[in-house]
Amino acid sequence: MIDDVLKLFPELKKNDFRILAGIELGMKDREWVPLPEIRRYAEIPIDKLAYRLDWMRRRKLVVGTLDPYEGYRLYFEGYDALALHTYVRRKTFDGIGVEIGVGKESVVMEVMKKPELAIADPEVYILKLHREGRTSFRQVRRTREHLAGKEHFSWIYAARLAAEREYDIMKKIYPDISVPRPVDQNRHTIVMERARGSELSKTLLLEPEWHLDEILTQIRKVYQKGIIHSDLSEYNIFVSDEGVQIIDWPQYVTIRHPHADELLRRDVSNVLAHFARKYGIERDLDETIAEIRSGGLTETVGTDLPADTEEEGEEETDDEPVGEIWRKDPESRKNVMKAGKTVRDRTERLLRTGQKNG
Ligand SMILES: Nc1ncnc2c1ncn2[C@@H]1O[C@H](COP(=O)(O)OP(=O)(O)OP(=O)(O)O)[C@@H](O)[C@H]1O
Ligand SMILES: [Mg+2]
Repeated sequence: MIDDVLKLFPELKKNDFRILAGIELGMKDREWVPLPEIRRYAEIPIDKLAYRLDWMRRRKLVVGTLDPYEGYRLYFEGYDALALHTYVRRKTFDGIGVEIGVGKESVVMEVMKKPELAIADPEVYILKLHREGRTSFRQVRRTREHLAGKEHFSWIYAARLAAEREYDIMKKIYPDISVPRPVDQNRHTIVMERARGSELSKTLLLEPEWHLDEILTQIRKVYQKGIIHSDLSEYNIFVSDEGVQIIDWPQYVTIRHPHADELLRRDVSNVLAHFARKYGIERDLDETIAEIRSGGLTETVGTDLPADTEEEGEEETDDEPVGEIWRKDPESRKNVMKAGKTVRDRTERLLRTGQKNG
């Protein structure tokens, strides 16, 4: 869990980040990064490397195997540690606050940056750690088995891609569209300003008609840029006296997407359904959609995006069932424990004998 990473963070040493970064790099090509490769990258003597790998393995930042060779890979927590390290080095933030949300596909925390002047209040930002890959873990495994080991485990890329996608689109549409200001991005994470107000789902509005119009205006404005949110609901909209802000953008699609019409329809219908249910406001779905579409494109944000956007969008909007958290997958758990034990045995043996072979 992210809490564990935060507790461990102060204990992590410079070498540990080199080891983690070495594993990260190696995971581009393979599922298990061989020990010699990690050693080459980290440039740490084998006994130290073995000791720190074991330390991080016991704390669930990495996981190891001996079969078919001694190799390691990151857990999400190890990847989290690398991203946190980068932000602290860049001075994006220097303190971590409370966890404010665990979604299907992310963990969201408050982070703080000390002010330059001691008299000012610390700035509070939101850190979103994407977790996309974990939901398709089983599927990746299945594919991999089917391909007889040719495909490597790619959750790192699923999560990183989602974070990059989300950050890029927020950069493109802010401040024209009312979204929290994007602040920074690294690996599978993004940093943004805190949304104003509270989640629509948790709020009782005094002027629901006004807020509904504000939301529809945002949907229309972003549509005119060629973009459809594609996961819009009362959970991804913040409301305040000043207006609305829309969050959670990684699954956006462009209006060229083959399912663009359906996705827009679903977004608008979710919003209208919420206002009908909670406030008895009745608006016609088709008329509302026609209004959103009227006026045509004002900008080409969506149509300028790379062609692969369409494919990704299609994949991500599939209603595939969400698997368990991969760390809790009983099958993977078994593997992890088995691998963990053999690795520990080997590391202990290495330490005992001072044997240097790696
Ligand atoms: N900028 C922000 N300001 C305030 N709260 C935020 C912000 N971003 C995210 N949150 C909180 O964290 C929750 C999860 O964030 P988000 O919806 O982006 O992720 P998610 O994992 O895709 O969520 P889900 O899959 O549950 O929809 C939000 O519902 C919201 O409560
Ligand atoms: Mg959400």
